[in-house]
Amino acid sequence: MPLPTIEWEGDINGRIRLIDQTLLPTELKFVYCEDIKSIWHAIKTLMVRGAPAIGIAGAMGVVLGVKDIQAKDTDAFLKELKQVTTYLGASRPTAVNLFWGLDRMERIARENKDTSVPEIKEALLQEALRIQNEDKIICRQIGENGAGLIKDGSGVLTHCNAGGLATADYGTALAVLFKAKEQGKHIKVYADETRPLLQGARLTAWELVHAGIDITLICDNMAGHVMKLGRVQCVVVGADRIAANGDTANKIGTYSVSILAKEHKIPFYVAAPVSTFDLSITSGNEIPIEERSPEEITNGFGKRTAPEGVKVFNPAFDVTPASHIAAIITEKGVIHSPSRENIQRLLGTSMR
Ligand code: MRU
Repeated sequence: MPLPTIEWEGDINGRIRLIDQTLLPTELKFVYCEDIKSIWHAIKTLMVRGAPAIGIAGAMGVVLGVKDIQAKDTDAFLKELKQVTTYLGASRPTAVNLFWGLDRMERIARENKDTSVPEIKEALLQEALRIQNEDKIICRQIGENGAGLIKDGSGVLTHCNAGGLATADYGTALAVLFKAKEQGKHIKVYADETRPLLQGARLTAWELVHAGIDITLICDNMAGHVMKLGRVQCVVVGADRIAANGDTANKIGTYSVSILAKEHKIPFYVAAPVSTFDLSITSGNEIPIEERSPEEITNGFGKRTAPEGVKVFNPAFDVTPASHIAAIITEKGVIHSPSRENIQRLLGTSMR
């Protein structure tokens, strides 16, 4: 059943309804964002998270941000719109889908510059809904394109959550697994719990249990052992930003998994929409890595697990080099042995 990860309710004066992912798996609760500050806060605190879902949240956030703008003309409106997108873009730095979504919103406003302010606002709402609906189709296509890589009877390891909760619906990495199951393949999924915020344990395990997929939860530091035991035949993860050369940022710990997969000669696949590529950067070294609060490590979920005063480093993402990636699965097709040339062949050059 489709997950109502994030929805727009009502007309231009409406609001965003989203699943508060910080409460899962014990509580399935919706939160409502009626103004730009509340959606900024929801993105920042990971109530809504996952690159494509953040892109949709940003686009819908723009609609919240412009609804009370009383500009005297469309030029003045576009100036205020810029402030709105800049503000939303400051919520989280790594997932490029956020900036891609905000860019699309600015573009549609510019294209409608010769209409009236109310008409631009309506065009912005329609664009946000289009981004959401397109993502649903894109995720199904990623599932279709990737499922062929999953062999019947195989064990698949995934890290973090790249499922329906991280997208409009159906997911990216998990779409590949959902589709493989729909095709009648028997798969066993190993989900890393994904310290420090446990997106694997709380969200991926929750989604896969509900989908009736054979899922085994492991701590992050068990992945190498599980591979050595021969239980994993491939790895599939999502992505937050993919550089022009195929270097891929994803949840912290993904890089370590890629090294383990390489050592055990296990193919490592990335599943992501084209909107996750950032062709303006040449390599992963240029990807901004979000650093989050030390309390996520020292005091996760309300229990103190480290001494007061200890130094903490808490990067939320890391970069997996393209050389560790067997293929990137997109809605447009599969890029085997990702490199600048192979990526350009599938995508062309004019991404953003
Ligand atoms: O910090 P998060 O939970 O937003 O991180 C999410 C991930 O790293 C996902 O793997 C990625 O965004 C892909 S989601 C389809």
